[in-house]
Amino acid sequence: MKIFLVAGARPNFMKIAPIYRSSLTVPGVDCRIVHTGQHYDYEMSQAFFDDLEIPQPQYFLESGSGSHAVQTAKIMVAFEKICESEKPDLVMVVGDVNSTLACSIVAKKLLIKVAHVEAGLRSFDLTMPEEINRMVTDAISDYFFVTEESGRRNLLREGKPAECVHFVGHVMIDNLLHQIKKIEDEDVKKFSVFSLKPEKKTYAFVTLHRPSNVDDRDTFMGIAAALNEIAQELIILFPVHPRTKKMMEKFQIRFSENIKMIPPLGFKESLFLWKDAKVVLTDSGGLQEETTALGIPCVTIRENTERPITIELGTNVLAGTTKEGILNAYRQCFAKGKNASIPPLWDGKAAERIWEELTKI
Ligand code: UD1
Repeated sequence: MKIFLVAGARPNFMKIAPIYRSSLTVPGVDCRIVHTGQHYDYEMSQAFFDDLEIPQPQYFLESGSGSHAVQTAKIMVAFEKICESEKPDLVMVVGDVNSTLACSIVAKKLLIKVAHVEAGLRSFDLTMPEEINRMVTDAISDYFFVTEESGRRNLLREGKPAECVHFVGHVMIDNLLHQIKKIEDEDVKKFSVFSLKPEKKTYAFVTLHRPSNVDDRDTFMGIAAALNEIAQELIILFPVHPRTKKMMEKFQIRFSENIKMIPPLGFKESLFLWKDAKVVLTDSGGLQEETTALGIPCVTIRENTERPITIELGTNVLAGTTKEGILNAYRQCFAKGKNASIPPLWDGKAAERIWEELTKI
């Protein structure tokens, strides 16, 4: 079975790493990595391939940045060519980025089966580009691998046949558990951020990149005001996404001296910092889940989440995007963290389960 495993943007790389590694143990599977080139800077892409020990992609599509239409179209045109010449039996897409959407549409129209990993998540917020990507990808996929019970519920409500929906756990957590073990044996003194790291639990770690948070001046100003207030109590480490950097400059947003801004980090250096933070404040999808898996309090700077299990069972508190909302959630999250537990099947074996299901097809 020839399989194209598609990745394009930063959060995809953590998901394909365990799927690819596990594929090497499955007889009869020829799993090939396709990198769409949606993310291309060293820190946004190659740093993850290096850290996560992913081999160089067999196919690199060099699609690059652009508006949603331009980016999606470029990926589709390039991906169609390799699907036509290589004729894979299955295209596996992960997550909810534009590459996920583009490649699933191309494959399906060429009558190639599509498997969606991290299927069924819904924020029910159609202003979010990822929600559209999730809905369209799920509308045409053949096999659905879900990370939490809500994913299964959503897909069944949308009429998917139960036998195509597989609750397997979360490949992103497979990757996290694999890497956290490795980091224990690593010489962390060589990390560029080593000297930046304060004492355990004395600092906060922040990531911010959603267009809804950083592309709107008033929203971004409110978030910055909340972070500046928290920075009176805690040092904040803040790796800045390229989009966020651009908008900070445009809106001339000022951060307190206690907020240490650093360039985007590779997976290991980022993990090295956030795993010992007192709290993580983020608008990332993945970090909401990863913090839950390690029991680190998390404040999610968004109005909604497509990952409700992180609130129901995990350490996540949804803050909204106003200054008051963020400060309230920040206070609330410490009490909540005490009762948190790990969601079902987030045990590091999701990739194995995916291959078990796929080899039955
Ligand atoms: C994308 C995903 C989002 C994911 C995020 C993680 C979509 C719709 N969005 O958002 O779900 O959470 O990745 O980072 O797919 N840029 C660079 N270097 C790069 C890549 C991007 O400088 O290597 C800059 C470009 O100016 C680009 C901007 O960042 O215009 C945004 O990149 P893009 O891939 O369009 O969206 P993200 O905001 O990164």
